Amino acid sequence: MNEKTKCAESSALRIRIDYNNMLSTVVGEHGISPAELEAMHERLASARDAVDAKRDSMRWRDLYITERANLSAILEMAEFVRYRAENFVVLGIGGSALGPIAVQQAIAHLHHNDLGKAVTGCPRIFVEDNIDPERMAALLDVIDLDKTVFNVITKSGSTSETMAQLLIATKLLLDRFGEKDLREHLIVTTDKEKGNLVGIAKKYDLHTFVVPDGVGGRFSELCPVGLLPAAVAGIDISAMLDGAELMDCICTNAEVEKNPALMLAGLEVLAMEKHGANIGVLMPYADSLKYIADWYAQLWAESLGKKKLEGGRMLRFGQTPVKSLGVTDQHSQVQLYTDGPFDKTITFIGVERFRRTVEIPHVFDDIPAVSFLSGHTLNELINAERIATEHAVTASGHMNKTILLPEVNEFTLGQLLMLFELQTAYAGELLGIDAFDQPGVEEGKNATYALLGKPGYEDKLKELQGRSAKNDKYVI
Ligand code: PA5
Repeated sequence: MNEKTKCAESSALRIRIDYNNMLSTVVGEHGISPAELEAMHERLASARDAVDAKRDSMRWRDLYITERANLSAILEMAEFVRYRAENFVVLGIGGSALGPIAVQQAIAHLHHNDLGKAVTGCPRIFVEDNIDPERMAALLDVIDLDKTVFNVITKSGSTSETMAQLLIATKLLLDRFGEKDLREHLIVTTDKEKGNLVGIAKKYDLHTFVVPDGVGGRFSELCPVGLLPAAVAGIDISAMLDGAELMDCICTNAEVEKNPALMLAGLEVLAMEKHGANIGVLMPYADSLKYIADWYAQLWAESLGKKKLEGGRMLRFGQTPVKSLGVTDQHSQVQLYTDGPFDKTITFIGVERFRRTVEIPHVFDDIPAVSFLSGHTLNELINAERIATEHAVTASGHMNKTILLPEVNEFTLGQLLMLFELQTAYAGELLGIDAFDQPGVEEGKNATYALLGKPGYEDKLKELQGRSAKNDKYVI
């Protein structure tokens, strides 16, 4: 099958993008003018070519190909966990947590953990993520270690939060089961050869999955980082990879206008550079996609928030992502999005067909101001509210666009993940920055090591102590 046929074939389940409302022809003076878009054309084509040329170093883009070879091992392990465990606990943070959370929320039942294994056939899923002591203590209150499998996920094998979570879990497991049976309760996902987990996994003969080279945390959802937790939750990971493949195929289109990731990147960069849009709101109208906004926030912020010295001047880049949920945040943030400053773009995510239909019954038919709702469905109401909010935001002159999913399933989710990853890569290229490093995060990690006495960080500790000594003046 040639690429074109493959891209066209699944058009019924293709996600679509409507960017009319980004343009000045629709929203007025604060929108992008057709001339600005036209002038961007060559830059977009070069960014597309540059990203394509670097494909070999962007291994995340090929995960839908390379991970096929690992699918049977991942599915086998997921099967073992589903049989063995009532609780599956992911220990990880950043890209190692946000992807698994987003995918589980999108596809699994919204009350997966409450339904219980007898109904879902899967263990309850917990992603520890934060290191709030109350959170960890609360988790330990509700899981039975005998029926729990932990999956520690860290590419570097050194992140303090994840290693602390691992130490706590391992101590409990060793005390209860001893060294021999640790492998029944602890799975490792980490780099092939770097980091502390490699040695630990060898020592205890732990089942290990690899985060491939060239795949950074926030681009890792389509490798074992995300695929194993998803498979444990009964999610069709092969269909997710199919979705990613379709989006990648669509985005290899030579025509700039037909490449949605490139177009989205171009619009956001133009909005930032020419229209002061320092804020990018992502507002899904579906609870299932609520945590996609969290995952996207890390992807966009950590990839584009960079500085660069040019001609003696320090240039700063990035757009602050804001997570919003429709319709909840209509009653919290939308007032700001309509009447507030022109410093943002709003990206709505809509869902055409929800997986469940809830009818609004006839109850108070004698009160027209209420009964107009009866006979409709919540499905109609939520989509009407999305369209109404798009209208309000557009009418007030604010740039916005809509990504429309025909439905939320593994295939459309795979498309969405790849769309945002490619958009980020193109935006990095357009801005002329490295979208794949995170020096600011590393600085925070190093300062934590220093504060907690990790060997080799003595100078960093002195630096921190020097700073806090100077900072005692304005404390009240
Ligand atoms: O995107 C990234 O690389 C980071 O945000 C990491 O995901 C995060 O810092 C966790 O790192 P690690 O997987 O090495 O524990």
